[in-house]
Amino acid sequence: MIDFDTLVSRRKDTSEKWQVIKDEMGDGSDDVLALSIADMEFPTCPAIAEAISDAARHDILGYDHIPSQYYDALGSWMSEHHGLEVRPEYVTATAAVMPAVLAALRATTRPGDKVIIQRPVYYPFTHAAERTGLTILDNELVLDANGHYSMDFEDLERKAADPRCKALLLCNPHNPVGRVWTEAELSRLAEICLRNGVTILADEIHADFTYEGYEVTMLSRLGDDVARHCIEFTAPSKTFNLAGLACANVIVSNPSLKRDFDIAVENVGGLTVNHFGYVACQAAYEHGGEWLRQLQEYLAGNLGIVRRFAQSQKGVSLIEPEGTYLAWLDCNGLGMGSDDLRDFMRGSARVFLDEGILFGQSGSGFERVNMACPASFLTEAMDRIAAAIARR
Ligand SMILES: Cc1ncc(COP(=O)(O)O)c(C=O)c1O
Repeated sequence: MIDFDTLVSRRKDTSEKWQVIKDEMGDGSDDVLALSIADMEFPTCPAIAEAISDAARHDILGYDHIPSQYYDALGSWMSEHHGLEVRPEYVTATAAVMPAVLAALRATTRPGDKVIIQRPVYYPFTHAAERTGLTILDNELVLDANGHYSMDFEDLERKAADPRCKALLLCNPHNPVGRVWTEAELSRLAEICLRNGVTILADEIHADFTYEGYEVTMLSRLGDDVARHCIEFTAPSKTFNLAGLACANVIVSNPSLKRDFDIAVENVGGLTVNHFGYVACQAAYEHGGEWLRQLQEYLAGNLGIVRRFAQSQKGVSLIEPEGTYLAWLDCNGLGMGSDDLRDFMRGSARVFLDEGILFGQSGSGFERVNMACPASFLTEAMDRIAAAIARR
């Protein structure tokens, strides 16, 4: 059994998630608990740590040529876990997903073009579009009375029909609302995009995390036609907590689209994976299956903690995630504005979450909770919020 229960303090290390508390809240914030940025409070899988330390001891760290075993490991993982055939010639290994998304936007659009995103969504999508000189068309997700998010296809039709609209940035599974888009939803989205000449950039970084009963459909599984018009972004970084090593794999089966993407990567100075990044990625995909299975079980338990907390509170409800290790809490029932809610969570409850408004205006009144932490830590955080609500 893997030990996910022991808390390893990161307050004093180089963790962005923990340092940002000090930066934003200053002195006297040492008691505040971090449940924000999407990395995990767990050490990586032991087989990965071993591969990295072996590489540090034995490898010569000159310029790298990624070995064929790397592509074999990636291909086997994608085939076994996602039913996807990934040939080496489809793959560009890059340092992280977001710089690759930026390059993909450059490859598929010209300044002044438009890109569709579906807010509330991972906020660097907005920054990437803005930095590329694109106008954002927001195909806002729709939340129904049962707490279920869906896509607004009528609105998508209108936006995709804009002749300057050249790309759609898809998040599947969706951060922060936790949807694992169904095959039917993705087929409808793809049909609209392909009919209108809109390339789909599919960020599938959370694809290894689903809860029981849900299965991710990687976009290119919808068929050759869709595969020819999409770029898929995958990575071991969320799955195995390797974000600090910056390693991702971009999958493009259409040779001319891949050429355009690779040129765009060169034009941003290259996004070379560092040696330890690809060593870790290969080890993860070769040896990480059982570790991930146990992690998923653990996360299902953690989701239960957040669910029970939300059920016990009047003004808070949980948007049930189907995937990701992120919980999207609707706190609108507490009747606070977005700034007050942030101050309440940080000041009264002493927890540091990601405020919903960061993900788009419709995220106002929501909070995103990172559940990838020891259960005792998550319980403490939920207890703190409950106690702060009781004191109001
Ligand atoms: C949807 C999504 N894409 C990309 C990233 C960041 O990936 P990277 O660190 O590889 O740029 C995240 C991190 O939270 C994410 O949630």
